[in-house]
Amino acid sequence: MVLVGFIHDLGNCLCLYGEPQWGVVGDTFPVGCAWSGQVVFPKYFSRNPDANVPDCQTTHGTYKRNCGLENVHMSFGHDGYIAQVMKPYLSDEAIYMLRFHSFYGWHRPGAYQYLENEKDKARWSG
Ligand SMILES: [Fe+2]
Repeated sequence: MVLVGFIHDLGNCLCLYGEPQWGVVGDTFPVGCAWSGQVVFPKYFSRNPDANVPDCQTTHGTYKRNCGLENVHMSFGHDGYIAQVMKPYLSDEAIYMLRFHSFYGWHRPGAYQYLENEKDKARWSG
C-alpha cells in the first residue's frame, strides 16, 4: 500500500507527452451506463456520444447488476494508465487501488454500488 501511495499518480506523466489535461487528470467513472450525479460535473457530458445511446443511459446500462467493478469499462485517465503499466509487477490488490483511486463517485457518496460484486464490497470495507 505504501508503494502504491508513492506511484499512484505517475499516470499523470501522460500530460508531459502531449495528452490533454482534461483526458488524464480528474475523477473516473463507468462508461456504458448512466452517469451518476456524484460524478464531477456530469452536466458537461452532453457532447459525449454516449449521451445519444439509449443503452448507455440506463442505470445498469450494458452491465449486469453486481457484475464487479473489474468488469466495468471506466473512463480513461491516469488511474487506468498506471494500472495497465504496473499490472505485470504488482499484486491484484495493488492494481485495484491504482485503477480505482479516482473513482470518487464510488468512494465517497457510494454511487454505482449496483455494479459491485462481493470482492468489491470486501475490499471497500477492508
Ligand atoms: Fe490520482
